[in-house]
Amino acid sequence: MDEEVTIRAARAADVPAMAAIINHYAAQNLMLPRSEAVILRVLDDFVAAEWDGRVIGCGALARLSPELAEVRSLAVSPDYKGKGLGRRIVLHLMERARARGYPQVCALTLVPDFFAGLGFQAVDRWAISPKIWQECVFCPKFHHCDEVAVVYNLTEQPVDLSMPSAAWEGLVAAFARREALRGAQRPE
Ligand SMILES: CC(C)(COP(=O)(O)OP(=O)(O)OC[C@H]1O[C@@H](n2cnc3c(N)ncnc32)[C@H](O)[C@@H]1OP(=O)(O)O)[C@@H](O)C(=O)NCCC(=O)NCCS
Repeated sequence: MDEEVTIRAARAADVPAMAAIINHYAAQNLMLPRSEAVILRVLDDFVAAEWDGRVIGCGALARLSPELAEVRSLAVSPDYKGKGLGRRIVLHLMERARARGYPQVCALTLVPDFFAGLGFQAVDRWAISPKIWQECVFCPKFHHCDEVAVVYNLTEQPVDLSMPSAAWEGLVAAFARREALRGAQRPE
């Protein structure tokens, strides 16, 4: 790669390329699929890796609680894997998390060794309880999940995710989502 790869905030024009990369791996059950509409809705969370005018990787930082942000939708185009790009995208998202004042970032992943190489630690899934309450409890694979929870502390202070703000926010979001799902299932 002669040109420098740029990692920058994603734009609407990047959405089809980002969806294509993510869904390439989702088709192999390596990550969750994302439609273009969903990516567009949370575009501010996303960063794109651009090389030679093309998007060749992406990742997102999603807020789960005031204390916890999640690295998600991380993917590098197959032709560009193994060149340090995945690492750069995660480091960029960690910097974003630090700048936004999150004390901790997490991921649920099938590639824990990749995250371990960046200093993340594997933890029990309930250590990232806001993620569990807001999303995992709605997942059909909840009881046989094969993903590993990993966390990285951005501050010296230990982070207690059982603290009220995180727990309550997770619960409120979970109930709101359940109600929305029920509403969608109700006949007209
Ligand atoms: C996982 C992924 C993002 C890594 O991106 P990448 O650009 O290929 O990885 P990098 O070149 O930055 O690798 C950085 C380090 O992680 C290691 N690594 C890369 N992929 C790995 C994997 N699957 N398992 C273990 N270690 C891995 C590399 O060997 C490298 O180690 P080194 O620093 O000791 O040389 C990429 O392979 C990918 O898109 N995979 C499919 C989608 C996916 O699994 N996404 C993660 C969802 S949480």
